[in-house]
Amino acid sequence: MIIFDEKSKTFHLKSNKSSYIMKVLDRGHLLHLYWGHQLRADNLDYIVRLKDWGSFLANTDNVEKFHLESLPQEYPGYGSTDLRAPAVELEYADGTSATDFRYVSHKIISGKQKLLGLPATYVENDSEAQTLEIILCDTAKSVEVILSFSVFDGYDTIARSVKIVNKSTDTIKIQRVLSANVDFKENKFEMIQLSGSWARERHIIRTPLRSGGQCIESRRGASSHAQNPFLALIRPETTEQSGEVYAMSLVYSGNFLANTEVDMYGNSRMQIGMNPFDFAWLLESGEEFQSPEAILVYSDKGLTGMSHVFQNFYSKRLMRGTWRDKERPILINNWEATYFDFNETKIKAIAKQASTFGIELFVLDDGWFGERDSDTCSLGDWFVNENKLSGGLKKLVDEINDMGLKFGIWFEPEMVCPISKLYTMHPDWCLHIDGRNRSQARRQLILDLTQKDVCDYIIKVVSDVLKSANIEYVKWDMNRNMTEIGSAKLPPQRQRETAHRYMLGLYYIMDTITAKFPDILFESCSGGGGRFDPGILAYMPQTWTSDDTDAMERLKIQYGTSLVYPNIAMGCHVSAVPNHQVQRVTPFATRGIAAMGGNYGYELDLTKLSDGEKRQIKAQVAFYKEIRKVIQFGEFYRLKSPFEGNEVAWTFVSKDKSEAVVSFFRQSAEPNPNFTSLCIVGLDPNGQYQDRLTDTIYGGDELMYVGLNVPDTVSGNVNIDGSGGRDKLFAGMVSPIINGDYAAFIWHLKKIQ
Ligand code: DGJ
Repeated sequence: MIIFDEKSKTFHLKSNKSSYIMKVLDRGHLLHLYWGHQLRADNLDYIVRLKDWGSFLANTDNVEKFHLESLPQEYPGYGSTDLRAPAVELEYADGTSATDFRYVSHKIISGKQKLLGLPATYVENDSEAQTLEIILCDTAKSVEVILSFSVFDGYDTIARSVKIVNKSTDTIKIQRVLSANVDFKENKFEMIQLSGSWARERHIIRTPLRSGGQCIESRRGASSHAQNPFLALIRPETTEQSGEVYAMSLVYSGNFLANTEVDMYGNSRMQIGMNPFDFAWLLESGEEFQSPEAILVYSDKGLTGMSHVFQNFYSKRLMRGTWRDKERPILINNWEATYFDFNETKIKAIAKQASTFGIELFVLDDGWFGERDSDTCSLGDWFVNENKLSGGLKKLVDEINDMGLKFGIWFEPEMVCPISKLYTMHPDWCLHIDGRNRSQARRQLILDLTQKDVCDYIIKVVSDVLKSANIEYVKWDMNRNMTEIGSAKLPPQRQRETAHRYMLGLYYIMDTITAKFPDILFESCSGGGGRFDPGILAYMPQTWTSDDTDAMERLKIQYGTSLVYPNIAMGCHVSAVPNHQVQRVTPFATRGIAAMGGNYGYELDLTKLSDGEKRQIKAQVAFYKEIRKVIQFGEFYRLKSPFEGNEVAWTFVSKDKSEAVVSFFRQSAEPNPNFTSLCIVGLDPNGQYQDRLTDTIYGGDELMYVGLNVPDTVSGNVNIDGSGGRDKLFAGMVSPIINGDYAAFIWHLKKIQ
């Protein structure tokens, strides 16, 4: 609900549990008054306190003590009387950059409009959200900033974006246009970020906020493995289950900035948006520029409360299409099984074996096209390599369909290898700067998606392949960051638009292809999780979480990812040991239990399994099918953090609380470990739950407040290769606590009354 109080000129954005309040001052300045727990009041004038902070601050309109810097701003510019980090920075035709934006008008509408050319959250009908648009104008220059706030009542979120409108007769240059800014009149916060690297994505880092600026950003042309477009400020006492959290997440896949600044008076500023670094955009007279969307979430129920809001909102009002609400298939991917070394006999053998296990989808990864027998060539030549797959794609797909499996295929459409037919024909189709080296990564260059011809070519070649056979899944990969960012088609004064124009081109391609093939399940990938961001999720409802498939590494990666992203969006596979990324040897059952933290699959050579492993896979697949609904559509609770100790645990609870799946891991063996019990969160305390392993019946309250006993040994342990163990459990799936490293255990609890 959005309320405007005419008398006090106050906007009150009320979602289920939170309030966001702004006020227009007499001189037209838009102040941010409050964001937090829901308030009844509409008028918070007492928050506006003028104070003489000392002689250094300039007076706005030369009114004594009226410094913008001492007041919380809603969307600050720079160069007037607030000299903190701005949200917007422009260069006018006269070369100056001071701005002075003041309120002109506003309107409140039902629903939410689409963002031109950009991914965004959406409403299914107008009653789900209200949108407030506030127009501010720098009248000396006739440039407007339109702030848009959509309040999603049922989801407890605010979606914000900004439009710059050039109403002057001159061309202006946009140098910075962030999507959200919030000023707090205090600094008792810690900051949470998701950071890492390739194969180590989205680890949780928590640090105190200190005086000055602290930011995370990407300059890589993608949201990146290194940082995620997310930032939360939390109270020092905030835990998983309690305490305040203020979070921002950006629906964008390119360079971003998430920034904080604690000023000299102890006020904190929090911002998120496109990275101003190496960005400039010429806006001609009459033109508009649309920023990406930022999602704001406030929770007073700790990090779990925040995650539930993001996970629910992103799975229902960001992800879209046929697969949004559908159970996702269990897949086998041939990448770690064969890498480039396969032919159709090998592929069919793996698929045949998969079909006997009840696996539902076969995914043919890199290497099926052009002359690609290694990563040195052929990206861009999306024509099947009949030397490897004789008879072509359709024949192979039909045969795999006949085995009872769906068929999926890998592409890396944004790239071109210098050794390719495409590059020979169009050497100007890649990002590059004339006279400079074209730096290769993995022997590839990036296609210039600022060029419409290039985008349309990609749409055509990908569509041709998708139409050529019964393809029901696509893995869309992207394996390098941008260097020498320049476009042959843009004039010199627009070269710094390239990285953002690339994203607009990418979104156009993704939008067109996913709309053309609405029944195909798309999974995005970027060397694993290099572009695990809300922008891509708007088109592709799952993402390959990381190239690291080691079960222990995955505990951290999946745990961190769950802070913002729904588990249904996380691709998680069981792979072979020694693990290909870290050489660790973990038990088969542990690998299964870790991968059951998301969207399940296998990525190993199924034709080279021991009998014990075969038995395990069959049982795991059957078990995952039983729990799939709870994992993919339930609520996720983090119980024990891999960033804080040796033991890790999480729970999924179905929305109606009738079922729960609890997973526990002990990373390193301990001599004589303490008894461990796990208090489960999110159950119905008044219900009775049966443990499917032992048939023991527990009260929901007992499970929540006394806890489940973690067994310290289980008779009949399984061996590393999956042999041994006991068969009775979950139709044959072994759930061992192994007396050694990398132990894991899983429970399935069903409510019986
Ligand atoms: C990187 C991906 O993350 C892998 O899963 C695999 O698809 C390779 N690319 C193929 O080149």
